[in-house]
Amino acid sequence: MKIQHLTLTVAATIALGAMAASALAQSAARPAANPGDADGAFVVPYKFSEPDGEKLYRRVCAGCHMPDAKGAVGAGFYPALTKNPKLAAGGYPVYVVMKGLNGMPAIGGMMSDQQVADVVNYVRTHFGNKYKDAVTAADVKAAR
Ligand code: HEC
Repeated sequence: MKIQHLTLTVAATIALGAMAASALAQSAARPAANPGDADGAFVVPYKFSEPDGEKLYRRVCAGCHMPDAKGAVGAGFYPALTKNPKLAAGGYPVYVVMKGLNGMPAIGGMMSDQQVADVVNYVRTHFGNKYKDAVTAADVKAAR
């Protein structure tokens, strides 16, 4: 009886081990490009795949700056991007997106040069901002 019990325990352990191993193999097989999708975390080397500035804004920026870009004050301070005179010089938002600023993470590292330019240009021409001098991917590259 005891030996049979032991055998069962060993068999169960092996089975569990095999399950764990196959789970590991599966997670290793997941595309490395999107590890953040499962938990929504910003994980390097995550790269956002959104194709234009508006989609990037909604996916990346709206969570903190709010969908209407009016910002929020509560557990933290998220400045409004609406009618924001600090966006007048395109280099400033490029710098903030690339390098981060206090509570804002340097999320530009998870975007291509073009994506950073697109989302900055989107914010600078929406939400009451009318700055038409678009930043370019080359400007972003220079700020990396
Ligand atoms: C995790 C939250 C978070 C996300 C995501 C985020 N921001 Fe921010 N952002 C902040 C915080 C917090 C500040 C204020 C930092 C400070 O001044 O201390 C800020 C500041 C800024 C500023 C400077 C505003 C000013 O008046 O000085 C700009 C521009 C900006 N963010 C643009 C963006 C854009 C564009 C995106 C998306 C690509 C984005 N942010 C995503 C949290 C975030």
